[in-house]
Amino acid sequence: MEKDDQTPRTPLGALSRVLVVGSSRGIGLEFVKQLLAKECLVVATYRGESPGEEMQKLKAKYGEKLELLQLDVKDEKSVASAAEALKARFKGNPELTHIVHNAGIYGPSGSFDGKPRSGRSAAPAVTKQSMMDVFEVNTVGPLLVAQSFVPLLKKPKSPQDYPILAILTSKVGSVDDNGSGGAYAYRASKSACNIVAKSLFNDLRDEAAVFLLHPGYVRTDMTNGQGLINADESVSGMLRAIEATDGSTPFRWVDYKACLIPW
Ligand SMILES: NC(=O)c1ccc[n+]([C@@H]2O[C@H](COP(=O)([O-])OP(=O)(O)OC[C@H]3O[C@@H](n4cnc5c(N)ncnc54)[C@H](OP(=O)(O)O)[C@@H]3O)[C@@H](O)[C@H]2O)c1
Repeated sequence: MEKDDQTPRTPLGALSRVLVVGSSRGIGLEFVKQLLAKECLVVATYRGESPGEEMQKLKAKYGEKLELLQLDVKDEKSVASAAEALKARFKGNPELTHIVHNAGIYGPSGSFDGKPRSGRSAAPAVTKQSMMDVFEVNTVGPLLVAQSFVPLLKKPKSPQDYPILAILTSKVGSVDDNGSGGAYAYRASKSACNIVAKSLFNDLRDEAAVFLLHPGYVRTDMTNGQGLINADESVSGMLRAIEATDGSTPFRWVDYKACLIPW
């Protein structure tokens, strides 16, 4: 598989201000931990009424280096008011250097017609509602977040200084890689997420660097603990890809091992 050029271009550190969308658990929570360990200021979002225990423990440990923000990517008002709340906390513009859009759902693994096909066992047929539910989070969510939070990115002085918008998609959304069918809602939502990201890349080419990440097959709640790697290995690999990105890098889709994913 073709490899990404991962020359370090934009090292993360004490001057970085990173928004991690969807950070209550799994890969998102691990992003928060590793970014804090690199001394970044981190804005971590949670979806529920209040931050979970893990986030509260991190807040107690890191204090002002960690801001917690309530945000549900399914809800336009929640996304817009989270951006307003962040602006208010920073008395104007937080001048974010990075947005890592991690929030996502798998949804029910609906089949074509409920029968076993292509080596997969029988599962209830996918419904319009389940397709729409997964689209709302995985496809529309990243666009709503970009609309509300791109104005809160720092203004770059040169392409080497561009803020970065990294969106987590999945290789399951690759058309080339789909050899087994099924997973209609998740596959389609992540493919559509990719084209949303490409339009963002084009529209923001004078102000931000946009690219796509695939975390690998990671042991989290989403995979019921199945997978090939743990979140720490996935996230440290994806952070290398983020640090290899600036305003001069092309639009690309890269995994935690620096492999470029076919579209
Ligand atoms: N694990 C893998 O093997 C794998 C492979 C390819 C791609 N991915 C992608 O990587 C990302 C993270 O996956 P994961 O394995 O860490 O999943 P996970 O353990 O299920 O965690 C998902 C995260 O997304 C948040 N989220 C879900 N719906 C949201 C909403 N409406 N608004 C805001 N946040 C929301 C969850 O918050 P709550 O706790 O509030 O639900 C949680 O923090 C996803 O985009 C996923 O599609 C994962």
